[in-house]
Amino acid sequence: MHFPNRRKGLILAGGKGSRLRPITNAISKQLLPVYDKPMIYYPLTTLMLSGIKEYLIISTPEDKIIFQKLLGNGKKWGLEINYAVQDEPRGLAEAFLIAEDFLEGNSTVLILGDNLFHGYGLSNLLQESSLDNSQSTIFLYQVKDPERYGVAEFDENGKVLKIEEKPSKPKSNYAVTGIYFFSNDVVKKSKLLSPSKRGELEISDLNNLYLKEKRLNAKIMNRGMTWLDTGTFDSLHKASSYIQTIEARQGLKIGCPEEVAWRMGFIDNESLKKLAQPLTNSGYGEYLINLLEES
Ligand code: DAU
Repeated sequence: MHFPNRRKGLILAGGKGSRLRPITNAISKQLLPVYDKPMIYYPLTTLMLSGIKEYLIISTPEDKIIFQKLLGNGKKWGLEINYAVQDEPRGLAEAFLIAEDFLEGNSTVLILGDNLFHGYGLSNLLQESSLDNSQSTIFLYQVKDPERYGVAEFDENGKVLKIEEKPSKPKSNYAVTGIYFFSNDVVKKSKLLSPSKRGELEISDLNNLYLKEKRLNAKIMNRGMTWLDTGTFDSLHKASSYIQTIEARQGLKIGCPEEVAWRMGFIDNESLKKLAQPLTNSGYGEYLINLLEES
């Protein structure tokens, strides 16, 4: 596989996790388990599947050190992982301002650290979006409760006219998911934003700027793909059950960075074997060894 651009990945893993208290009193939400892995493994592997190798993880000042302990500098998975801090949750679009130096004028993809994507065709969809540097791309997913999200308004030809953030009367059932591909002027554009009524730099405002310039692709993520969020006790529990159900049925793991790194050719057989060794007691290492044997 060949990835000609140097699109860089941002994983936003800050926020207060207030809807998950007391679980999040002492630890970041994005470090909580989703069945057999820390939550951040899922968005990280989603971006790895799109071919991205350079990352910036943005977290609260207190949690940065724990993310570093978990992920290190990324070398073990053939990646480069950097860290930055957002001291207050001032909005998703602040990620681009924090990441200005890291991005060095490259295009980027932002994923929310609590969003979980899975399903047939996902890697292709992401890889194809990653290659287009002139346009920005968002992904829409049909949901029952659009008022909780950014929501797309369509014209009669199915073209997106506008994105509304948490509208009380949503104009469609299509929510904007937490993965966004932006072209290399995203930092400049983010500097034009002002805080919304809730005091945040809104990603929906940024998307609307690109829409106005006719530089925003809105792709539908079809029903064969799964998009889950993990923001409440129930949705966190359901996400864990989902992963457990599929993994038990197929004998394949979802969101396993060692496996994805190996399948993407970021690491070789020998490196995978080494990564498996300290993980054998939990069965996770055995799974990695089996991958090698089966190949
Ligand atoms: O999940 C997709 C939705 O994410 C989009 O449809 C919405 O347009 C977008 O605004 C966002 O809505 P949420 O209400 O879900 O965003 P929330 O404030 O819950 O933040 C999402 C994650 O990002 C959460 O894990 C916390 C983290 N976060 C949030 C903010 C505002 C940060 O790390 N920093 C922040 O400043």
